[in-house]
Amino acid sequence: MSTTEQIEVKKQSEIKINDNKYTRVTSHLVLSAHLNAANTLFGGLLIQWVDECAGIFVMEKLKTHLIVTKKISEVLYNEPSRLGDVLELLCRIKKVGKTSLTVECVARAKQIDSDDRLRIILNCDLVFVKIDKFGKPSPHNFILEDI
Ligand SMILES: CC(C)(COP(=O)(O)OP(=O)(O)OC[C@H]1O[C@@H](n2cnc3c(N)ncnc32)[C@H](O)[C@@H]1OP(=O)(O)O)[C@@H](O)C(=O)NCCC(=O)NCCS
Repeated sequence: MSTTEQIEVKKQSEIKINDNKYTRVTSHLVLSAHLNAANTLFGGLLIQWVDECAGIFVMEKLKTHLIVTKKISEVLYNEPSRLGDVLELLCRIKKVGKTSLTVECVARAKQIDSDDRLRIILNCDLVFVKIDKFGKPSPHNFILEDI
């Protein structure tokens, strides 16, 4: 991939919502295997996708796979997601600590063939901690200018 293409991909994945800048990290297509008994997206699976998405985001920021989820904040399911929805999971860094990073994750959904309206179906904050090879918290040395 050339440098030009890399810059273009980066631009496409940056999204502004209410003056906050997010990175689109992962996407999912809601299939029938993802639904609960009420025929909407199973909430536990969405949390798994959110945790994975925020984890990838933090791994890329800290350039290490040695991170763990310390905390997932209150989760509000604002709207249901249905079969055929395309989900986008977006992340931004909210707080930088010594060993931790707090990330906000937003999940938004759209039906491709309807009005293309993006519905925010969930948002929550997650705290990740960088660990050493013994599983103990370890300074990540990430600085604000890197955001
Ligand atoms: C992550 C872990 C190593 C942290 O251990 P700990 O004893 O809490 O460590 P510390 O008290 O030094 O805290 C480490 C960081 O977490 C933050 N933290 C601790 N408790 C917190 C809480 N309740 N809410 C938010 N942040 C918290 C601290 O502020 C610190 O961040 P900082 O260095 O940026 O200030 C340990 O709790 C652990 O292994 N938990 C299990 C993780 C896991 O299995 N996750 C699921 C799979 S990924």
